[in-house]
Amino acid sequence: MDLLEIMLKRRSVRKYKDEEIPKEKLNKILQAGLLAPTSRNRKPCSFLIVDKKEVLEKLSESKQSSSKFLKNANKAIVVVANTLVSDTWIEDSSIALAFMHLMATEQYIGSCWVQIHLRKSKSNESSEDYVRKVLGIDDYFRIVGILALGVPFHEVQAHKIEDIDKEKVHYLR
Ligand SMILES: Cc1cc2nc3c(=O)[nH]c(=O)nc-3n(C[C@H](O)[C@H](O)[C@H](O)COP(=O)(O)O)c2cc1C
Repeated sequence: MDLLEIMLKRRSVRKYKDEEIPKEKLNKILQAGLLAPTSRNRKPCSFLIVDKKEVLEKLSESKQSSSKFLKNANKAIVVVANTLVSDTWIEDSSIALAFMHLMATEQYIGSCWVQIHLRKSKSNESSEDYVRKVLGIDDYFRIVGILALGVPFHEVQAHKIEDIDKEKVHYLR
């Protein structure tokens, strides 16, 4: 697939088959995260792979409702950024998440971004505090999001190039 085709095919996939993601595919997705550019090349992000059912279930309560599907994901990649290493943790984490989301599409693996930073958990605490507690992570790590992964339950409709909002583009003269 060329890059535009991958971008058109990329959708948020929240329903997965009860199947293992092949190791080579997971490795490619992680390589994409590790290849993401970071400000001043500081590389503040680490990638925590969760596949234990009971931990996925706990993570599925990290938001009030929009993280429920994590319970049925085959894996989750939690991107944690060390704020002692870089102040651009939001940007660096977001780019890594986007790169992995695209690579997952290229590998025919379904994925969905779960926003953690700025959100509240099911138990109404900060989603970041909740995830840090579940995974035993120090406070100086910030968590922009989690990528849920699984073999797609059904085929999802690709975006169409005709539907992109060209009105958002302004040529300044
Ligand atoms: C920054 C960001 C945060 C998101 N957070 C969530 C989330 O917490 N839960 C969820 O189900 N989807 C989440 N999404 C997925 C969006 O809802 C989805 O990308 C959007 O509706 C467009 O649909 P598409 O990805 O299928 O094109 C998030 C996407 C982004 C980029």
